[in-house]
Amino acid sequence: MTLRTHLDKLEKHEKILKINQPISKDFEIAGVLKELEPRPIIFENVKESSFKVMGNLFCSKESFAEYFGITTKEIIPLLTYSINNRSEYEVVTNAPCQELIMDDPDLDQLPILMHCEKDGGNYISAGVFITSHPKYGQNADYHRSMQFSKTEMTVRIVRGRHFDTFLRDLGQVDVAICLGNAPNVLAAAATSVEIGVDELEIANAMEPLKVVKAKTVDVFVPAETEIVIEGTVYLDRTHAEGPFVDLTGTYDIIRDEPVFEVKAITHRKDAIWQALLPGALEHKLLMGMPREPTIFRKVNEVVKCLDVNINPGGCSWLHAIVQIDKQSKEDPKKAIQAAFDGHGSCKHVFIVDSDIDIYNPSEIEWAMATRFQGNKDLVIFDKAPGSSLDPSAEFNTKNTTRIGFDLTKPLGNTEHFDKAEFPKINLESFLSDSI
Ligand SMILES: Cc1cc2nc3c(=O)[nH]c(=O)nc-3n(C[C@H](O)[C@H](O)[C@H](O)COP(=O)(O)O)c2cc1C
Repeated sequence: MTLRTHLDKLEKHEKILKINQPISKDFEIAGVLKELEPRPIIFENVKESSFKVMGNLFCSKESFAEYFGITTKEIIPLLTYSINNRSEYEVVTNAPCQELIMDDPDLDQLPILMHCEKDGGNYISAGVFITSHPKYGQNADYHRSMQFSKTEMTVRIVRGRHFDTFLRDLGQVDVAICLGNAPNVLAAAATSVEIGVDELEIANAMEPLKVVKAKTVDVFVPAETEIVIEGTVYLDRTHAEGPFVDLTGTYDIIRDEPVFEVKAITHRKDAIWQALLPGALEHKLLMGMPREPTIFRKVNEVVKCLDVNINPGGCSWLHAIVQIDKQSKEDPKKAIQAAFDGHGSCKHVFIVDSDIDIYNPSEIEWAMATRFQGNKDLVIFDKAPGSSLDPSAEFNTKNTTRIGFDLTKPLGNTEHFDKAEFPKINLESFLSDSI
């Protein structure tokens, strides 16, 4: 499967909406995507650009799993397998993403969206940044980027990211920003693995990947990508970045961030720009889902882990629900610590038993209501490093209070904690002559 064959399949089954009316990249596309979320959409006629725009492609685990022909239950195993068994991709010399090269690279030609009213500018939100370091090799990750001239953008780089390490080491880094990627590339770039791992090898383990050398920078990019923006990010050249609505659905603040300068833009003949609505379901899925296998692995090292859900209600980043097979009194507390080890930005962890549906928020609340006592089932880690995205974390340090909630029932006689069953009846026999 490629993204293009996937789009064809969606079209054939009438699962993608094609909007032909002229529409603006400023506010209008974002507004329609949000209004019709989670419906996949292609905007055929963008007022300010000759490129089409696609969005809402992978808003749910179901749509992500459908691409790979697997069930949602198989996503964590697929990601875990691919992280552990990453493999070399095939290098090609001819690639769709380089069918055309823009003569005079100009960001104004691209449908870079303005999303929300108070955003500081038009933003790239779905760009996979591929860069390279002489010691560590290639890295792929995401950085929202605000356009402020025809050739420049300011790039949000959270401290401590591998990209940040590369930039601080080298002072400037060449980058290829890839837009319009299949979900293996999208998910792999969102994983956080050890430095020195090329995430495109994880993508290749999920589904075979062809790459091509970028035209002006020394990195390999996915051959099937729709649009590639090549250039350089400079540590010492900074520009105001923000405000921007990010994952939490709140406005992130203005910061001075490094500048990216474009050198070349290559693309398919009929390239489609990939939109990713900030703070909406697709963004949430890409942030949270790749953290589920890392939590699963850490928890499973100390107790038997059954499943992990990083849920949209917790911004798909700040909350994790972990289902365990509790064998001893200490298991939930061990699982809480391990879950925080598996996802450093997590703030609240909820540990539940196997009879709780971790995808149903009411069931989590029910477990809290009936199995939890604050004086003994709470684990608090004060002044822990928190997420830069959490508006409630300490302003300057982003320190936070991490809390683990043990929502499991006690071991032994659980009679008073078990869900009561209603009688099983033969409904048909009672309804046969009803009107
Ligand atoms: C859609 C999306 C947008 C993101 N935006 C940013 C961003 O603007 N800045 C940033 O530093 N990290 C951002 N991230 C997070 C990193 O890309 C992500 O955590 C990545 O896995 C870190 O890679 P690393 O392990 O190579 O450091 C984003 C992630 C996703 C999925």
